[in-house]
Amino acid sequence: MPAIGLGTWKSAPGEVYDAVKAAVKEGYRHIDCAFLYGNEAEIGRALQDLFAEGTVTREQMWITSKLWNDSHGEGHLQPAIEKTLSDLKLDWLDLYLIHWPVSLKAGTALPDSGEDILAPGEMPMTEVWGRMENLVDKGLTRHIGVSNFSAKKVGDIVKTARIKPEMNQVEMHPYLQQQALVNFCRENGVHVTAYSPLGSMDRPDFLKQEDEPILLEDPVIREIAQAHDAGPAQVLLAWAVQRGTSVIPKSVNPRRLAENLAAGQLTLSDAEMQSIAGLDRHRRYIVGDIWTQQGSPYTLATLWDE
Ligand code: A2P
Repeated sequence: MPAIGLGTWKSAPGEVYDAVKAAVKEGYRHIDCAFLYGNEAEIGRALQDLFAEGTVTREQMWITSKLWNDSHGEGHLQPAIEKTLSDLKLDWLDLYLIHWPVSLKAGTALPDSGEDILAPGEMPMTEVWGRMENLVDKGLTRHIGVSNFSAKKVGDIVKTARIKPEMNQVEMHPYLQQQALVNFCRENGVHVTAYSPLGSMDRPDFLKQEDEPILLEDPVIREIAQAHDAGPAQVLLAWAVQRGTSVIPKSVNPRRLAENLAAGQLTLSDAEMQSIAGLDRHRRYIVGDIWTQQGSPYTLATLWDE
């Protein structure tokens, strides 16, 4: 899987077709998608055109998508991946992830209240995992993994899996380094992808807190960027790659798409990596409180296991 991929969360319909085409022409070979992002059909049109024009072949691309939380139940996974495949106009995915370790009542995009959220015992993730394994058996996806899973939740799957999870995609950047989770995943053969690596400042307001620090304006990051004649985003992405994670910055702007991919060429010194290590403050931009609203069986402590 190419270490730097294109994130598509928040890439609006009307924008994402051009973004995917520009990205692949720039050299991106990894696109990160999800049913919930609501833009897979437009991404599919871009992929179809890129294949038809001969820019790339299907085999040269790595395409990830994610199973939404309301489709965890028996009989729901295959229709969900088939919808994604039909929207993306693909015969198979390279990687399919359980988007969150939280199950919703079928037909619920986002919970109106905590009542829409199922208790873990009602939909055990180890059983959802068995249904993910069936999708590999059927050739619908080549690899499977999880997203937003704590080390404990990854460990529960690893213990019982027939096909081990190969990926945990989580929020990760210098303000949320999660070294223990990275170590646990590495010891268990699970790769890690860092999402929101630039701080996702284009999130909708309901996902924002009042006192958020702005990662791209961090003075340490800016100083390192200046020393390399690079942009702060490039330092954040080079840090992620040098830590051994893959990373999926989102952009719909051709100049920034190119800048982000070129971050793969930037090498940070040990001293610079250490200065960035010192920025950790365990600060989530994606807090997860949508899953802990009144009436939910989850608290932030049981969601993240911390
Ligand atoms: P845009 O899509 O207009 O380029 P994240 O990947 O953490 O979710 O962050 C995405 C946000 O960062 C978007 O607002 C995106 O804007 C912006 N962004 C992407 N690349 C860069 C860059 N190289 N420099 C500054 N901002 C960037």
